[in-house]
Amino acid sequence: MNTPSSFAAAYQARHLRLGVVGLGGVGLPLADAYTRAGYAVLGYDLDIQRVQALAAGRDVLRYHDLAARLLQSGRFEPTHDPERLRACDVVAVCVPTPLDMSGVLDTRPLLASAAMLARVLAPQALIVLESTVPPGTTRKLYAETLAAHGRPDLLLAHSPEREDPGAGRSLTSVPKLLAGLTDEASEQVHTLYSTIFTTPVRVASCEIAEAAKLYENAYRSVNIALANEFSNICARLELDVRAVLDAAATKPFGFQRFEPGPGVGGHCIPKDARLLANVAREVGAPATMLEQAARIHAERPRFVVEECFRLLRARGGAVHPRVLIVGVAYKRDVDVTTNAPALSIAPELSLGGAVVHWHDPVLGPDAILCDHAGRALPRVEVLDRTTVAAYDLVLVLADHSSVDWAVVATHARATLDTRGALRNRI
Ligand SMILES: NC(=O)c1ccc[n+]([C@@H]2O[C@H](COP(=O)([O-])OP(=O)(O)OC[C@H]3O[C@@H](n4cnc5c(N)ncnc54)[C@H](O)[C@@H]3O)[C@@H](O)[C@H]2O)c1
Repeated sequence: MNTPSSFAAAYQARHLRLGVVGLGGVGLPLADAYTRAGYAVLGYDLDIQRVQALAAGRDVLRYHDLAARLLQSGRFEPTHDPERLRACDVVAVCVPTPLDMSGVLDTRPLLASAAMLARVLAPQALIVLESTVPPGTTRKLYAETLAAHGRPDLLLAHSPEREDPGAGRSLTSVPKLLAGLTDEASEQVHTLYSTIFTTPVRVASCEIAEAAKLYENAYRSVNIALANEFSNICARLELDVRAVLDAAATKPFGFQRFEPGPGVGGHCIPKDARLLANVAREVGAPATMLEQAARIHAERPRFVVEECFRLLRARGGAVHPRVLIVGVAYKRDVDVTTNAPALSIAPELSLGGAVVHWHDPVLGPDAILCDHAGRALPRVEVLDRTTVAAYDLVLVLADHSSVDWAVVATHARATLDTRGALRNRI
């Protein structure tokens, strides 16, 4: 049993044993942060293949080369056996919180993890919910599930993850929001996270931490929508939107720059804005900004396709123009295609008669991009001057840092650059 003083002594000596449930985009970097702070970490995942890969030091996420480092630390052990978590003093829960088919939170991974932890954890162990959840979830859904399984003794805290995939930012340097359901849970998670994160930020309730996470991503969603709308206005005015943004960004207060692009993708931005809009509906508050942003995001890929055909027509277009998409991932330097704009842009282009090929040096060998009939489109492995010059249009959808953009800028017959990757390249 952890008394406050035994807990403090244990963290000082790094004797606490930490668990991580869900070894994905959030759980693995968190396990890495824990081991680097000196703790022994047990990582549990339902996916046995993932566990086996990690045990062999093989990466399961291409943009995180963490597996080998975790293994070499000698402090990380992946497991598929939930019973092993019994030995943990603290367990971070990093399970998915997706939307179901009707656009509401699919609570099954949360409920399954709560039921499993209720069964295996030692008395008064601390659970830190790191998954992104609507306000009230930690207190109502998670704590009540633990209680319903006979475990009201377990301490519960929430600390939302602020991972920035592919940005190369150190996880532990990002201020870490945290709150407990009880003073003791708050105290313990704060004590522990003070040894791991540079800036733990204790807030007054789990609901504040939960709502802050959703608002951060909703803020991003609305501002990306605004940047895309503004980009359309600039196009009509024949203004270079990025030159205007450069000018606006010289203002040292009251302005934060967001880039226009082909649309939003990934797991978090579309999902979290929707979770907040759902909460708004439940409590009878309007969420018109969020809903309008979602509409702008939904329309953006079609706008990009129309721009492609407009450019091709202006150049005396062929019936079957050859289009090369560069960058299929949803954003720079990340090997993730979930909700990527390319997934809807490529089929629309092929439906309109274009011959579409694609290049993405970050995506793994299994990645595919399909046309409107579900057929895999050809992948171009090498992006050299001959390749680039063979297309009527090069469409840039992700500005990966490993692409030789000067080759594209110099040798493409025509380009549509939705990311500003080609600025000042010639
Ligand atoms: N990936 C990000 O950049 C990011 C950033 C901030 C917050 N989040 C949030 O963090 C949470 C996790 O996201 P992620 O990207 O790590 O998901 P992920 O899909 O990459 O990984 C989740 C892992 O959990 C495992 N899992 C599912 N149910 C389980 C269960 N009951 N027990 C044990 N393991 C289980 C899956 O097998 C998978 O390995 C979500 O709420 C997400 O919204 C993600």
